[in-house]
Amino acid sequence: MQISYHGHSIVKIMTGNYMIIIDPFITGNKLTDLVVGDEKPDIIVLTHGHNDHVGDTVALAKASDALVIATFELAVYLGWQGVKTHGMNIGGACTFDFGTVKYTQAFHSSSYETEENDIIYTGMPAGILLTVEGKTIYHAGDTAVFGDMEMIGKRHPIDVAFLPIGDNFTMGPEDAAYAVELLNPQVTVPIHFNTFPPIEQDPEVFKELVTNHAVKIMQVGESFEC
Ligand code: NI
Ligand code: MN
Repeated sequence: MQISYHGHSIVKIMTGNYMIIIDPFITGNKLTDLVVGDEKPDIIVLTHGHNDHVGDTVALAKASDALVIATFELAVYLGWQGVKTHGMNIGGACTFDFGTVKYTQAFHSSSYETEENDIIYTGMPAGILLTVEGKTIYHAGDTAVFGDMEMIGKRHPIDVAFLPIGDNFTMGPEDAAYAVELLNPQVTVPIHFNTFPPIEQDPEVFKELVTNHAVKIMQVGESFEC
């Protein structure tokens, strides 16, 4: 499969038959190379309800008839907007045609800001373990570091981990480096930085803080085979 990074928390996975996008925040994302009208995902997986993660999910899903996988309340909310959804919750796994999705805990919040300035709470925030073609990808979503990352890594040996390093809303570089120790992935890709002023970070600093594990700083639009 091919895995690519598209700025903020957007990760795209192309298998032989499926295009999977995690957290497709395209409109308003100054870093991304994606264009809403060009993306035809089969599957959209969401970590939580914040607008910088849900992003263009409804438009993308309506245009391509994608299945949206999200935590339960967020799935219900998006389902009301006419998209096909599959709701899950933390600790639960489900095997689909393309692979297995398991939701893991994240220490954060989860809500959606509407255009009418309402905040709709959308259940628990989460991380995602995606097992596709025999490889396990962990997308931490937005989270603080937490001790049970060690359990996640032990129970599900991780090939590629996408971890936020932006600080302010999530763990910063020092805590993310400690998270790498706990998770023990084959390779870690830093995400969720430099999109907005409060999360400006130099990913090279994070890379230097990680001593015994591989870190791959991906440019926006960069991909690799896994
Ligand atoms: Ni968030
Ligand atoms: Mn975020």
